[in-house]
Amino acid sequence: MSEVSVTKNPGGPEPSTDDLVVLDNVNKHFGALHVLQDIDLTIKRGEVVVVIGPSGSGKSTLCRTINRLETVDSGSITIDGKPLPQEGKQLARLRADVGMVFQSFNLFAHKTVLENVTLGQTKVRRTDKQAAETKARALLDRVGVGTQADKYPAQLSGGQQQRVAIARALAMDPKVMLFDEPTSALDPEMINEVLEVMKQLAEEGMTMVVVTHEMGFARSAANRVVFMADGRVVEQATPEEFFNNPRSDRAKDFLAKILQH
Ligand SMILES: Nc1ncnc2c1ncn2[C@@H]1O[C@H](COP(=O)(O)OP(=O)(O)O)[C@@H](O)[C@H]1O
Ligand SMILES: [Mg+2]
Repeated sequence: MSEVSVTKNPGGPEPSTDDLVVLDNVNKHFGALHVLQDIDLTIKRGEVVVVIGPSGSGKSTLCRTINRLETVDSGSITIDGKPLPQEGKQLARLRADVGMVFQSFNLFAHKTVLENVTLGQTKVRRTDKQAAETKARALLDRVGVGTQADKYPAQLSGGQQQRVAIARALAMDPKVMLFDEPTSALDPEMINEVLEVMKQLAEEGMTMVVVTHEMGFARSAANRVVFMADGRVVEQATPEEFFNNPRSDRAKDFLAKILQH
């Protein structure tokens, strides 16, 4: 594995290789359940990959292994050419490099929106408070919740909270953003406001892994669709190929079911 040294260059073109996240023959068990089976997956810099598949197929576990919320049993995962760190400061930095937005809006309930977006910057990135707040306000404006900065999460709608969660992850200048069903817990009228923010991010070139059932998003924003079933990557293709001409029976079944709704 080559050690690629990357100088931080916010806003500028990224140096180093094209492969940003590489899973090589990854396996994981939960007891007797083989939840990830021989997963080989490479995410290129700037690529938007949508992961879809039936409930229980291992999509969340896959995301969680990429920022080491779950360990793997065998195989390797590298981010920007470097293996995932085991613990300590390195691990905190990894979690900052790999932004994650979950289904449940897991903001810090006892901190204001602004504090939610400054905390990681000051603690992990060691940004000074003033600069962190300036950046936080700019990001909150960008996701359309600038006027909510001094409120507490519970005072916001689900869609607003999820956009704060995106701003919080972006504040760390992540190399890649993972989204695990970010709109599944939202009321229908709030889904689009979150998807719009994600689409904009995708257009700006953010590397993204998105687990979602929003097929409109997959069609319009994804470079590639990865279909998982029973812990395996069953097929991967461009959205056009995948939706118009799924090859596996599992994918055909799955699409028939979700497209009925
Ligand atoms: N911490 C855990 N302990 C035991 N089993 C788990 C755990 N997390 C997930 N699983 C199981 O692993 C399988 C895959 O789960 P998950 O990755 O959440 O799938 P998906 O996100 O595709 O619905 C499921 O059968 C689930 O019950
Ligand atoms: Mg899941």
